[in-house]
Amino acid sequence: MKILYADNYQSMSRKAANILSAQIILKSNSVLGLATGSTPLGIYRQLIDWYQKGDLDFCACHTVNLDEYVGLDPQNPQSYAWFMQSNLFRQINIDPANTHLPDGTQMDEMLECQRYNALIHRLGGVDLQLLGIGRNGHIGFNEPGTAFEKETHCVRLTESTIQANARFFPSLEQVPTRAYTMGMKAIMQARKILLAVSGAAKADILEASLFGPITPQVPASILQLHPDVTVVADQEALAVILHAHPDQIAGNPSC
Ligand code: GLP
Repeated sequence: MKILYADNYQSMSRKAANILSAQIILKSNSVLGLATGSTPLGIYRQLIDWYQKGDLDFCACHTVNLDEYVGLDPQNPQSYAWFMQSNLFRQINIDPANTHLPDGTQMDEMLECQRYNALIHRLGGVDLQLLGIGRNGHIGFNEPGTAFEKETHCVRLTESTIQANARFFPSLEQVPTRAYTMGMKAIMQARKILLAVSGAAKADILEASLFGPITPQVPASILQLHPDVTVVADQEALAVILHAHPDQIAGNPSC
């Protein structure tokens, strides 16, 4: 595992975007696993900027997103489908037919999970999976306690995730309580993983995930077992690791 230091959110976003760009340049038909949340927004802005400058071409790329709320259709501005359209897909030259998310309108859970797993297999698996991390260590919507061996499944969101995501909804009551998510097994099968982390609120959970015991109680901790993980985190998110394991961080200004 490589842990890369960035001064702030902007620099974290730029470094992470560089890694995604390298993937697209080296393999134009890459399958990119994408994430939502506040963390990847700066990365997506940077990728759009490089696309507009002619440095990046997405025409042969495929994308699979980690998750989607159950009950929201793609036209709902709170859906992750809408998020991806507005924050990335509409602003680059990706073929809409090559962009994939779980279908939040499919109420038959088993059917939808099977469809999404089959799709990922048909695409040949994920080349580079971008991840954020929830405050309780969740990845996608794999909440603490989720079995590591799961593929795409339907989850009931924890109270802390509902509270954390309420900022995107008009009221707390409107936050969906269930979501489809790629499971940790599918995420671990990605050839490369890029974990982007920003802000002091993530400092404790980032240290626990990367250096603590590997346990379903901290879903991100399983990343310790993946052979090719790069973590790009800003100074605030690295606060605890900078103190406890300073020699583990590349680009640490105090080294
Ligand atoms: C949501 C998403 C996750 C994301 C997490 C953290 O729960 N399902 O994929 O990593 O939020 O979001 P943020 O980056 O806004 O802290």
